[in-house]
Amino acid sequence: MGVLKFSVPEIFFGRGSLKYTGMCARRLGAEKIFFVSDPGLEKSGWIDQVFEILDKEGLKWVYYSDISPNPRDWQIEKGALLYKKHGCDVVLTLGGGSPMDAAKGIALVASNGGRVNDYEGANRIQLPLPPMIFIPSTASSGSDISQFAIITDMERQVKMSIISRTLVPNISIVDPALLVTKSRELLIAAAVDALSHAVEAHVSRIASPMTEVHSLKAIELIVKYLPLALENRSMDHLEKLSMAGTSAAMAFSNASLGLDHALAHSLGGMLDAVHGTIHPILLPQVMRYNLSECTDKIAQIGEVVLGRSLESPLATALAGIEQLEGYFQSLGVATRLRDIVPDRSVLPQICKMATYDSCLLSNPRKATAEDMMQICNGVW
Ligand SMILES: [Fe+2]
Repeated sequence: MGVLKFSVPEIFFGRGSLKYTGMCARRLGAEKIFFVSDPGLEKSGWIDQVFEILDKEGLKWVYYSDISPNPRDWQIEKGALLYKKHGCDVVLTLGGGSPMDAAKGIALVASNGGRVNDYEGANRIQLPLPPMIFIPSTASSGSDISQFAIITDMERQVKMSIISRTLVPNISIVDPALLVTKSRELLIAAAVDALSHAVEAHVSRIASPMTEVHSLKAIELIVKYLPLALENRSMDHLEKLSMAGTSAAMAFSNASLGLDHALAHSLGGMLDAVHGTIHPILLPQVMRYNLSECTDKIAQIGEVVLGRSLESPLATALAGIEQLEGYFQSLGVATRLRDIVPDRSVLPQICKMATYDSCLLSNPRKATAEDMMQICNGVW
């Protein structure tokens, strides 16, 4: 085994950990915080709680919530201008993947200049970012843990992947109590996103023993506890989903993702689709496509999903994929592409754009735009 590198932020995990936000900000030298969230979260009451916590700590803040789902490049630039205009010194965000990725983009542009589009791809950030404290409101995107930020380039209508060690926040505060206010649809979309992170990280070309423990554990937790959490909303089960999302993020941040996410980014960029609704459609088909290159790895996933192994790795892998398909169907989510793509004629363009996505580099099997068309046609 060669030398491994594994990056994670400092993590506060557990019910009530939100209360440490002010203390964390102070520790990072905050005087005036740039606080990013989205309008949808304002009704939940969590934003007001953070305001109170910051007040108690005697901290000033600028609140920015002009963030849409699938955050746009211009929203980042507007945020970065405000950050500099008000002389902020720490970036804080509470939210799902969109405000968190936007917060990273704002921290990036405020410190490195230019446009967020200039940094698309891997390792293109030169200067250090301001300290970042992230509080995820869903158990999925993993942006609070990861080296990734996904921002939509509005001109090209494509989601850009920006990947850099410097995008890992300083502190992640994971409070499972925040999941209590989530709708059934959001809980499912978040959990299946985390599941796809774990599956893609597990079979990634750059997976390592340090990422594999986290990817397999995340798969086990989501398969077992999502149905229970949907049924009874108990804090014990929601906490398991938070743990799963965090584990999946530790895996994918260090092992990257694959073909399912390359296509999901392309679909999301062009159609503004909810990211978490795409994976139940694509993931099983992508696993079948990858099977010849990583049968043993998919068999490990199958063993976790099935709770046993069958007569051969191939049999376990195939049965595991089928079990996952049944699992997605049992959740009542869309499982055909036609359910979310209004017009089939956009598929060639979506597949072409996906070939430029950085996530494709770590997919275990090479894929051309034609290969992706076959995958899309298979699940149409
Ligand atoms: Fe994702």
